Amino acid sequence: MAASAMEVVCVTGGSGYIGSWLVRLLLYRGYTVNATVKDLKDEKETKHLEALEGAESRLRLFQIDLVDYESIVAAVTGASGVFHLATPIIVDQVHDPQKELLGPAIKGTINVLTAAKEVGAKRVVVTSSVSAIVPSPKWPPHLPKTEDCWADEEYCKQNQLWYPLSKILAEKAAWDFAKEKGLDVVVVNPGTVMGPILPPTLNASMLIIHRLIQGCTETYEDFFMGSVHVQDVALAHIMVYENKAATGRHLCVEAISHYGDFAAMVAELYPQYNIPRFPKDTQPGLLRSKTGSKKLMELGLEFIPMEQIIRDSVESLKTKGFIS
Ligand SMILES: NC(=O)c1ccc[n+]([C@@H]2O[C@H](COP(=O)([O-])OP(=O)(O)OC[C@H]3O[C@@H](n4cnc5c(N)ncnc54)[C@H](OP(=O)(O)O)[C@@H]3O)[C@@H](O)[C@H]2O)c1
Repeated sequence: MAASAMEVVCVTGGSGYIGSWLVRLLLYRGYTVNATVKDLKDEKETKHLEALEGAESRLRLFQIDLVDYESIVAAVTGASGVFHLATPIIVDQVHDPQKELLGPAIKGTINVLTAAKEVGAKRVVVTSSVSAIVPSPKWPPHLPKTEDCWADEEYCKQNQLWYPLSKILAEKAAWDFAKEKGLDVVVVNPGTVMGPILPPTLNASMLIIHRLIQGCTETYEDFFMGSVHVQDVALAHIMVYENKAATGRHLCVEAISHYGDFAAMVAELYPQYNIPRFPKDTQPGLLRSKTGSKKLMELGLEFIPMEQIIRDSVESLKTKGFIS
């Protein structure tokens, strides 16, 4: 079903890897989109969006800072739906976790939800992550992880896993806000998102396959729960927005799998690269499951399989000149 061009939706983080795909699919479905970027003067954030089909007449760009409430109000004004993707993503060197990650993630989420409530948006889709589901060392080891599982805040603090902590606390803030203020919120929790790249720069998840191809032996023990095609993640956002029966969290992976499974398939498909070999279980205790994303499957999402995720990622890395 195509949306009416009169229906305006806002995508925060519209310039990003997933955000660009979401803007693309929303325009394709006929929505008018208010997409946010951090710097309107930076062509690296705007040019790929302006080139999208439908952008000329139905895309408006807004500059926001997650901690600047008024900038967010301008972007959501007139929107009947809000997709909140923007968040700082730093997984390597974090110097000041509060300032660099936790503050903007949590305050930004509250600002976006407050503004959405103020302008009368009817539904907000919040992009959380599997990082709000794992690491969860206390989850019963005989059960596959589901949307009922929350990542362990104390474990994250002790191990200085600041990005997962920011996703846990931002998602919890969203649920608290929804309950207290009566705002309709649904959440998507994607795994490691890969596939064709629209922006000119590489985001953190595409860096994972880029680094693997260059021989990196990191196993992402606390971060990985499965891969997912970027187009499916964008589609999942639209499905949970449009389907009023969708409620709660939605794990979004093509299957619950280990990073080693992913790396082994990259090695099989692309023997010309020197892909490291990993032990069978790179995520000790994580039970594999082909139906981990049952909720999204029941809404009608047919996940693109891992083989295609890898092929689309590698071909895109080649086309964009990141690998030869
Ligand atoms: N990629 C994955 O594997 C994955 C998995 C699970 C969940 N997620 C979630 O999906 C969302 C999008 O991630 P992504 O992979 O598309 O990453 P990305 O390409 O880095 O996008 C992040 C976006 O947030 C914006 N942003 C960051 N800090 C901001 C601030 N202070 N004010 C305003 N905007 C700000 C960025 O703007 P600039 O481009 O200007 O920096 C960018 O548009 C995030 O919420 C992330 O946690 C991603």
